[in-house]
Amino acid sequence: MTTLQPAPIPDHVPPELVRHYDIYQRLHGDGDFQGWFASLHDQGYPDLFWTTANGGHWVVTRGAILSDVLTQPQRFSSRVQIVPRERSMATPPFPISLDPPEHTKYRAVLNGAFSPKVVTPLGEEAGILTNQLIDGFIERGECEFMGEVSRILPITIFMRMVGIPYEHRDKLLALVDEMIRPTQVEANDAGAGLADYARDTVRQRRASPGDDLLSRLCQATVDGELLNEDQLTGMTVLLLLGGLDTVASVLGFTMNQLARQPEKRRQLVENPELIPKAVEELLRRFPVSSLGRIVTAEMDFHGVQLRKDDMVITPTMAHGLDDREFEHRTAVDFSRKVVFHGSFGNGPHRCLGSMLARVELRAFLQAWLPRIPDFRVKAGVDLVVDTGMVVALHSLPLEWGSES
Ligand code: HEM
Repeated sequence: MTTLQPAPIPDHVPPELVRHYDIYQRLHGDGDFQGWFASLHDQGYPDLFWTTANGGHWVVTRGAILSDVLTQPQRFSSRVQIVPRERSMATPPFPISLDPPEHTKYRAVLNGAFSPKVVTPLGEEAGILTNQLIDGFIERGECEFMGEVSRILPITIFMRMVGIPYEHRDKLLALVDEMIRPTQVEANDAGAGLADYARDTVRQRRASPGDDLLSRLCQATVDGELLNEDQLTGMTVLLLLGGLDTVASVLGFTMNQLARQPEKRRQLVENPELIPKAVEELLRRFPVSSLGRIVTAEMDFHGVQLRKDDMVITPTMAHGLDDREFEHRTAVDFSRKVVFHGSFGNGPHRCLGSMLARVELRAFLQAWLPRIPDFRVKAGVDLVVDTGMVVALHSLPLEWGSES
């Protein structure tokens, strides 16, 4: 992977707040990116620090600071969300790139797409699909979980929802992967490729509407006006980025964990009614997204001087893995009371697909655990975490049955 040369440290950044942090640096080992993030404080990283990587930006490591950034859009704008900022797309995801009050009315257009009436049947489909996928490899006694399950299940559900043909899956996955976890930080045109795909889809739906979400968005109005082609293209890009990748990534980290903790698995196999609570705890323990914001005015923020146009990265791990928010933060404890974990963000942009994500994760575990209750990560495997705005395991080889 190519990353940019370190940026010079600006005058307003005190040297004691500078630390190494490259959001695109791959991690090797047991696949526990979130545990690694939690260890930053033990290594003396401050609650809010500056890195010279990827154009130079602030990084938040505490839940309280994360909430303050995400709930104050007038001070921390979503206008730029990616580092280095030059990687921002010409047609940005929409309306996530707007701030309130404009954002609010366009978000309302998307709300109906994620109502319980829409989402509940998708959960049933996820359960059926999980069983079909398992049928394909259960006898083999092994699978590469990311390729054979994780990257197929949520995407299939999502593609049905938006009416995108299944044959486009591999092409789209490659574009989304390169956009979120680039192998080339400089000279990256995956964003343009994704926007082109979205624009073509929008044009096609406008010309011949169907009964899918994208066709309905093409008919939606805000202040009495239909959305224009750029707005619809940006909305499609947002749905692609939100729907194709995040659930797949959480599934991977969840299964890596369960594969290593037989007693947790057994708890869920013997008490399947615990699964909804377990999903919440797994979402807390394995957040995957880092959110970018741009500072709108000079300010003193948690004792640190921020300057207009500074970029701030808020890894959602900063909440769920914060020892001020959760005792024994790296332990997975299904009896833990999780009121708020921050893994779906906070403030005006908090995740619209959170109910769909929860429904899919529950349906997956309810289908998998009775059929393959005992499984493990293949011995001696070095797991690679592809990092970026959403982190994900590159692959996860699992096996079950007697050890060879
Ligand atoms: C476990 C899975 C998921 C995680 C961890 C997740 C995480 C997030 C986070 C952290 C945000 C806030 C972004 C920001 O503040 O800049 C967000 C926003 C969003 N997510 Fe998700 N997401 C997940 C699943 C989904 C799914 C399945 C969809 C839809 C298919 C989706 C659609 C969206 C949309 C549309 C927004 C933008 C909301 C807005 O700007 O108002 N997400 N998601």
